[in-house]
Amino acid sequence: MTTNYIGKPQSRVDGKLKVTGAAKYAAEFKVPEMLYGFIVSSHVAKGKIVKFDLEKASQLPGVVHIFTHENRPRTAWFDRKHKDEVAPPGSPFRPLYDETVRYSQQPIALVVAEDFETARFAAALVGVDYEIEPHQTDLNESREAAYRPKLRSTTPKPVDKGSAEKAFDQAEIKFEAEYTQPTEHHNPMENFASTVVYGENGKLTIYEKTQGAINCQGYVANVFGLSTDDVRVISPFVGGGFGSGLRPQHQLFLATMAALELKRSIRVSLTRQQMFSFGHRPNAIQNIALGAHSDGTLESLTHNALEETSHYEDYNENVVNWSGVLYDCANVKLDYKVAKLDVATPADMRAPGAVTGLWAIESAMDELAEELKIDPLELRLKNYAYDDPLAGKPFSSKELKACYEQGAAKFGWAKRSAEPRSMREGDNLIGWGMATGVWEAMQSKASASAKLRADGKLEVASGTADIGTGTYTVLTQIAAETLGIPLDDVTCKVGDSDLPQSPVEGGSWTVSSNGSAVKLVCEAIKKEVFKLTKKMDDSPFADFDYEDVIFADGQIKSKADSSISVSIFEAMRQGKIESIEEELASSPDYSKQNKYTMNTHSAVFAEVKIDEDLGTIHVTRVVSAIAGGRIINPKTARSQILGAVVWGISHALHEESIMDHKLGRFMNHNLAEYHIPVNADIHDIEVIFVEEKDDIINPLGAKGLGEIGIVGVAAAVANAVYHATGKRVRDLPITIDKLL
Ligand code: MOS
Repeated sequence: MTTNYIGKPQSRVDGKLKVTGAAKYAAEFKVPEMLYGFIVSSHVAKGKIVKFDLEKASQLPGVVHIFTHENRPRTAWFDRKHKDEVAPPGSPFRPLYDETVRYSQQPIALVVAEDFETARFAAALVGVDYEIEPHQTDLNESREAAYRPKLRSTTPKPVDKGSAEKAFDQAEIKFEAEYTQPTEHHNPMENFASTVVYGENGKLTIYEKTQGAINCQGYVANVFGLSTDDVRVISPFVGGGFGSGLRPQHQLFLATMAALELKRSIRVSLTRQQMFSFGHRPNAIQNIALGAHSDGTLESLTHNALEETSHYEDYNENVVNWSGVLYDCANVKLDYKVAKLDVATPADMRAPGAVTGLWAIESAMDELAEELKIDPLELRLKNYAYDDPLAGKPFSSKELKACYEQGAAKFGWAKRSAEPRSMREGDNLIGWGMATGVWEAMQSKASASAKLRADGKLEVASGTADIGTGTYTVLTQIAAETLGIPLDDVTCKVGDSDLPQSPVEGGSWTVSSNGSAVKLVCEAIKKEVFKLTKKMDDSPFADFDYEDVIFADGQIKSKADSSISVSIFEAMRQGKIESIEEELASSPDYSKQNKYTMNTHSAVFAEVKIDEDLGTIHVTRVVSAIAGGRIINPKTARSQILGAVVWGISHALHEESIMDHKLGRFMNHNLAEYHIPVNADIHDIEVIFVEEKDDIINPLGAKGLGEIGIVGVAAAVANAVYHATGKRVRDLPITIDKLL
């Protein structure tokens, strides 16, 4: 037996529950006499609701109540944010607040009925008269209205260093271009849903689709003026989040409001179309100017971004600063602006900001390489940043160079012929492109509990979520290895507001935050067990210090001589201890966070084959080389990167939420018309994890992998498309019409 699990591929501990359908999601929980709510969405993008006609709908047998802004109950704090809420600056959207319509598909009424079909049908019978006002949903036409938003704490201030303009004027080689990216929607498999169980004395148990049960508990308690003791939010499984579940969505508000008012249990779930009625990756326009010496040295780098936001919040994300961190350039000017549109506030979507910014800068670097007649990879190496040039700090670790080298070797980059349209196979033009990815390696304060029982079982828990990333599995591995017991004897609990405090699962910080907490609390248990061991009759460890032993294979062993050992559980039984329980919070080392820049990196290489006559694009090969610190579980880690690369290909070639600006409404709000790749679009994807030792970042040396895999993929594909065809597409997605 060995109890070393960290760094070894491990299948998901929750896999069986998921493939057998035993894992239950928010809309699958049911209680007797539950009501069903269906949301009525606004048909117009801007205006006022003049009148509701509820007669037909309310006369339908089975309809219990229809909530609108005219009859909604008062709430305690309609506008209050609580400290942990993941939200941009501004006043959050308040469902059914008043007669104002702020965007198309805004929820304007909730129909409650005894069954779902009745609620849905009745919702279709609700009549609404609007006083329509002119709307603006076009970012391109709103350039004049751009302003610098109030930044949230996670968005760094754009930097202006040296004199980018002057250096650009004087540069031998100059390149300037504009890159655009459409609005995109997350579209996780599981739609948003809240099942609110109205219990004794009005206590609520809420089954919720969310990336943070504790976050939702705080939201509900604050908004409805309840004690957190009276609100429990449970979310054991999440069918994908990608950022859409970071903040509570409006069905949670509506369902809770209805349950409290009607004193009944209720479920409100969103349709796929309604999944387009809140946050999205914002539409973005970016301008890049690069000036270089003829040897490839970057002398000037300007990166400006404009993104959409809503009229009620300043959504913002880090789009431009990555460029200044990635390349060592003396003259850098970065700027970030937003423009208010009549849309719902955008939301964080997998690697928010970085996906957008890296698409532009990594396309531009490829274009500059072309101008310079330098290999694109060589240009990156030439301007490689060994320290963080913006912050003037070292990196805690940065094996990007190894990513470039190993990725290039695996891909066969050296065999690339530089000239566009120079590689072909039958009717197909072949293109090879590459790009860089970067994301933050963040850690937040998080708590975990552990309970070790004398019968050999361990339970660990933390109030985070597993949004499909493998959190259950990774936390189980860390616990089992730390305590030196078999993986099968460990159970892990997440997704419940009753569990120890945790931030939402997001930002790729869960392994470093909650993983560190689990490690810490298991170490505390070890110390307790060791004390018991010392007290055993004829204990071999009577004279040992804690530092002299290890926990492995269910035993406490002497570090120096592993034949000296005692069973962990025998020590507990002799001490007549049935269980040992601990709960601890782990915090990042803030002094190190100040001293070092902590990032993950990637190098992405893509091959496309494009039919010369038809313009059809196939991404036939991708090699993604990742530097993400220590890899806790190579199997789930690889899955994270594979999925992210698929999404990157989708970002490059397929996805676009198409706004009809005349109506101010997303027209393709369904999975038939919102294009995502199918199996036939996805071919070889190879994932490499390069060795990256990081003793600074956290006790695990792990950086988190949820997001890095998507960053840079779109640029690598776009660069390959250029190499194949000689045609540069600067407007995503790269569809056939743009190529022909
Ligand atoms: Mo992620 S966009 O922080 O779920």
